[in-house]
Amino acid sequence: MSDTHDRQPLEVTRRQVLEAGTIVSVSGLLPVAAQAQAPSPQPAPENGATVQVSFHVNGQPSALEIDARASLLDMLRERLGMVGAKKGCDHGQCGACTVHIDGRRVASCLTLAAKVDGRDVTTIEGIGRADALHPMQQAFIDHDALQCGYCTPGQIMAAIACVKEGHASTPEEIREYMSGNICRCGAYVGIVAAIEQAAPLIERS
Ligand code: FES
Ligand code: FES
Repeated sequence: MSDTHDRQPLEVTRRQVLEAGTIVSVSGLLPVAAQAQAPSPQPAPENGATVQVSFHVNGQPSALEIDARASLLDMLRERLGMVGAKKGCDHGQCGACTVHIDGRRVASCLTLAAKVDGRDVTTIEGIGRADALHPMQQAFIDHDALQCGYCTPGQIMAAIACVKEGHASTPEEIREYMSGNICRCGAYVGIVAAIEQAAPLIERS
């Protein structure tokens, strides 16, 4: 799957995004109610300011016209209604927005939505069902690896990737390779225990 794609760097800095972007309408990213309250219409996008993206999200095909500057996180949440991935910082510093692209974990807040064209995106909504949880979801429950739950979708997506990367051999290694995901509730002990429980049940890539 992933090997067939012409790989491009998936993450860019916010500075790169802002430098590359032109001033265009962001109305396409706003909820309907917010658009209705907008004080004045934004100018029409210039040529090239919007892009078409076709991709699979959780196995389902999706095609959208998006603002060229939109992040994957905003596209998922605002355009597709997939609010499982969370926005904790929008700066690549907390991990709450972690999703997978072609099986690799990325910070979706620092990933241009345009970059997922032709790729496979997996979010927390796509890894299990209420009646058939993913082993990592079940392990998080078993070990009380969450409190408020805001970091949890990102933690679980990072944890699955951590295992598949082969970085879950010891608690020390798990802590190191999960260090990009912040939990202000301090559920780290449970998170490490959950990953240790689920790791043998998850196939490595
Ligand atoms: S919201 Fe993406 S890393 Fe914090
Ligand atoms: S469970 Fe609250 S931030 Fe992690």
